[in-house]
Amino acid sequence: MPKRTAILISGRGSNMSSLIAAAMAPDYPARIELVLSNRPDAGGLERARAADIETAVVDHKAFETREDFDAAMQAVLDEHNIELVCLAGFMRILTDGFIAQWSDRMINIHPSLLPSFKGLNTHKRVLDAGVRIAGCTVHVVRPEMDTGPIIAQAAVPVLPDDTEDALGARVLEAEHILYPRALALYASGQARVVSERIVFSGDAASMDTAIFSLPSRA
Ligand code: GRF
Repeated sequence: MPKRTAILISGRGSNMSSLIAAAMAPDYPARIELVLSNRPDAGGLERARAADIETAVVDHKAFETREDFDAAMQAVLDEHNIELVCLAGFMRILTDGFIAQWSDRMINIHPSLLPSFKGLNTHKRVLDAGVRIAGCTVHVVRPEMDTGPIIAQAAVPVLPDDTEDALGARVLEAEHILYPRALALYASGQARVVSERIVFSGDAASMDTAIFSLPSRA
């Protein structure tokens, strides 16, 4: 049975769209049952509705505490019998309680090769640091931000004439390939957490399933 999956967003939802598209395939191991936003004006909500996916808004501004906000989100996820949560540009800090509730059942995409460049303004910091390889990571969510067992990573080159936008666009292109593959690995159980690392089994075990790279010039 495909895992009943919710995607949490705060913005445009391009990663969300790539997950929705992948999950349309009949043999995909996750089904997107719900897109949940903390912002009523998130562009991704329209995109989700256009794809016939159910949407919900839990506006963080309506809650006094993070605990209350997270409890309201939990209630919506429970209503839809959600089994797996994908964070895709979700910009609120979650409480430890909520993260514990979804331990090993919530994954995130971050636009860097973790554990390097955690946090915001990733591409600017990558350029400032002068690194030659950037990328993105899909990982299981743990209480400390941008940490947790790494499911898959994609590497992209940093080019000499790169701007923040150019690099961001190149990384985003990789994100759209990486996230659906990582979700498939995780939802199918081919990638699972063992002693705080990801272990692969089945078809995934014998391949470089969790490493992707894009050509340096498209
Ligand atoms: C992506 O770069 C993702 O890695 C980060 O937030 C951005 C969301 O973009 N967590 P989108 O809403 O999926 O287009």
